[in-house]
Amino acid sequence: MKVLGISGSIRKNGNTAILVKKIIEYIDSEGCSEFETEYISLSGLNIKPCIGCEKCKESKWCVQKDDWNAVAEKMIECDVLIIGSPTYFYDVNGHSKNFIDRTYSLYHDRKLAGKNAVVISVCADRGCERTLATLEGFVNTHGFSSLGFVSGRGFKEGDILKDEHAIKKCDAIGERILKLLSNTHRDSIKQD
Ligand SMILES: Cc1cc2nc3c(=O)[nH]c(=O)nc-3n(C[C@H](O)[C@H](O)[C@H](O)COP(=O)(O)O)c2cc1C
Repeated sequence: MKVLGISGSIRKNGNTAILVKKIIEYIDSEGCSEFETEYISLSGLNIKPCIGCEKCKESKWCVQKDDWNAVAEKMIECDVLIIGSPTYFYDVNGHSKNFIDRTYSLYHDRKLAGKNAVVISVCADRGCERTLATLEGFVNTHGFSSLGFVSGRGFKEGDILKDEHAIKKCDAIGERILKLLSNTHRDSIKQD
């Protein structure tokens, strides 16, 4: 059982990264060897925009070669995806959007359908809602089941730690993921 956390912020240790990692840490703190976790920051990765070539309708994979491919493979392998983005002008930042747009190539044969997802948005003041709506649009289109969302407020790196509600919600979501994984794991043992 694999949980993959992705932060789309260019700030490697920024507020989005903190919230995504908080959930991962909660799961890790349980120390269940059956549950693997991985965290990826898209910061520093070369992720080109979708060029709308439509070649992926045939190839079922993006024909562009860059760092997107390795992250996409990890996403296909995961059971639970946690994806977060900072808010830039009332929506996800460009880097997160490039990452999302490229997943069009995984949509044609529904490679992500049936997985579970948590979406996270961070803003300084306003616009978190649309960021969440964009991320929900991404996970709903692909057919993920929603395990909920976290929306937090913070401006400078680390400010999010003062948003007690968001921090508590991360723990609650972590608990929800653990329950789901435990149930799924128990069911798979029963079937063996
Ligand atoms: C280009 C840019 C646009 C932004 N637009 C908004 C916005 O529309 N609403 C808002 O509340 N904060 C906005 N912010 C602030 C960021 O959302 C905020 O600093 C957030 O904590 C960044 O998250 P990160 O540390 O994960 O990158 C903007 C910041 C930048 C750099």
